[in-house]
Amino acid sequence: MPQIRGTTQIVGVWGWPVRHSASPPMHNAAFDALGLDWAYVPFAVAPERVGEAVAGIRALGLRGVNVTVPLKEIVPAYLDALTPRAQRLGAVNTIINNDGHLTGDSTDGRGFLAALGEASAIPEGGKRAVVLGAGGSARAVVDALREIGVAVTIANRTIDRAQEVADRLQSAGEGEPITVVPLNETALRDVLADENVVLLVNTTSVGMHPRETEMPTVPPDALRSSLFVSDLIYNPPQTRLLAAAQSRGCQTQNGLSMLVWQGAFAFSAWTGVTDPPIEIMRGAVLAALDTS
Ligand code: ATR
Repeated sequence: MPQIRGTTQIVGVWGWPVRHSASPPMHNAAFDALGLDWAYVPFAVAPERVGEAVAGIRALGLRGVNVTVPLKEIVPAYLDALTPRAQRLGAVNTIINNDGHLTGDSTDGRGFLAALGEASAIPEGGKRAVVLGAGGSARAVVDALREIGVAVTIANRTIDRAQEVADRLQSAGEGEPITVVPLNETALRDVLADENVVLLVNTTSVGMHPRETEMPTVPPDALRSSLFVSDLIYNPPQTRLLAAAQSRGCQTQNGLSMLVWQGAFAFSAWTGVTDPPIEIMRGAVLAALDTS
């Protein structure tokens, strides 16, 4: 833990609940490693109190906060400015306080691409990705892929929700039309048969601790070995989907790197440090994982 002094700059994370967040140990380990006089603290903020909490950033002089479930879509209405990315997504995971002027950004999409970059798995422009799920993380992932010229198919249990995400992102930015299919075996088998599909990303919570015996309805025989399979879940480190993909010969990645990189981009925005200590942050998250 960093030593808290009269000069310490405060950042933190808002969630409801927030107790399982791995972000405090991750950021505090980075402050420690760099000898920065900063501290990162958790705040449990009820959704109906977000407006008061935003006023509190200014009143208390916090340098910024991360925002997590279920507040990411509530926060934008209370800020002074949004980055174009946050505007497109209608969601904010990072608030930056510049002398009382509050800007909202979303670092999830950049975190996702940086994680893929670690695995040398960023698709070439013109290729296609299949994204399972249509929630907040799916939006960030789809938007980031479209920014680098990758076409996207969204597969979701609730097709209307997938269509809403597609409509929103298509009207907000450029790129190929987003295709939408139901999340079932027939549709997935059909979509994954296209050789132009090089990436499959699970953004649903299916398979997450404590329900690790579950798996999204992807037929394992549809997983070609040339597919890169990313699961945003990091607990457990190997979901059933990733295990199935590996046994089919696919390269895989779990969500730990994305978590670390989205945090690293927020860390840089607040502190100005351009190369945060990624491996120290990763180690701190791993040590803090609640696997009970
Ligand atoms: P996040 O912000 O992490 O993306 P979210 O917005 O709650 O979380 O989205 C969760 C996603 O997981 C949704 O796409 C949800 O599907 P629906 O839109 O049909 O609700 C998906 N999901 C959750 N449980 C699921 C299940 N048992 N089977 C299939 N999809 C599921």
